[in-house]
Amino acid sequence: MVKKLPVSLNNGKKRWELYDDVEYDAFWKDWDKNFQDKLEKYLISKMLPTRGLRVIDVGCGHGRLFECYRDRFHTVILFDGSINLLKKALNKYGKSRDNVFFIAGDVNLLPFREASFDCVLMIRVLQHLFELENTFSEIYRVMSRAGEFVFSYHNKQNAHRILNWFLGRETDNPFSQKSKEVSPALVSHHPAYIEKGLHKAGFQRPYYLGAVYLKQIARLREKILSRGVSGSHWARFMGKLWLAPWMIGRTRPRNRPELMLGSKLTGLLVCPICRVSVQDIQGTYLCPACDRKFNIQEGILDFRPY
Ligand SMILES: C[S@@+](CC[C@H](N)C(=O)[O-])C[C@H]1O[C@@H](n2cnc3c(N)ncnc32)[C@H](O)[C@@H]1O
Ligand SMILES: [Zn+2]
Repeated sequence: MVKKLPVSLNNGKKRWELYDDVEYDAFWKDWDKNFQDKLEKYLISKMLPTRGLRVIDVGCGHGRLFECYRDRFHTVILFDGSINLLKKALNKYGKSRDNVFFIAGDVNLLPFREASFDCVLMIRVLQHLFELENTFSEIYRVMSRAGEFVFSYHNKQNAHRILNWFLGRETDNPFSQKSKEVSPALVSHHPAYIEKGLHKAGFQRPYYLGAVYLKQIARLREKILSRGVSGSHWARFMGKLWLAPWMIGRTRPRNRPELMLGSKLTGLLVCPICRVSVQDIQGTYLCPACDRKFNIQEGILDFRPY
């Protein structure tokens, strides 16, 4: 296994297979990534509601953020395209509490009924996507009235890139709204583009916290104070001015039905292609409209659509 993501999707691999040979959890164990990890967890915990009925972590990876929401919701769904990463999440958190489910699928074809969730979390996933229209309307569809959507993305208009552009070291105009592919797994978006996409899908204007820290200050702070989270003090400012490289946003849908009630997972599941409720037949979910079967393998419900 390698630590870095492949530079392209070779051998006809699907996008969700990008992470299958990658040690994504090891990426977060690097010394300086530790500051970013702490800061993101701190800010995300602030953005998430303190309690609710159902949360889905869309593109949950290996479950890095599980601690941020695990005790705040009755039902928790960890959702990702990569079975490899879901297995890691399951091994770590599968037995930690009741009502935690691990589901594989595509963010653009969510296998859930309308208004299934009062909270959707989607961190570091928009960096894999160019066309956000479909994604935002899928999120909107599965959200309930007054639900909270907490998300993050890489900001192409961050302070570092603006500076480089003025110094002539950067050719791409950071103020243009066109998304920029920094690498195959890092598409940077402009906050105005994100805002337009959210508005079109039916979301309100987002509120932001910006995740950025300075390595030298973070190291010093850790040595001297050994408490607090580096970068948390200016997060509001960096978010408001759209200057942070990582933007963490929170928004609400403008007009949705009430949250679907019920405690059974099966009541929420639909075929990702036909959107018809699936039938639970001895460990397999069957779509009565198209006859597709979705299996449960070692605790993971596989709703990948193709
Ligand atoms: C950079 S990782 C972030 C993981 C986690 N949210 C975190 O912050 O640690 C991106 C995740 O999005 C998932 N992903 C990317 N595109 C997806 C898609 N179309 N459908 C489902 N998951 C997707 C990947 O499998 C990967 O786990
Ligand atoms: Zn179907």
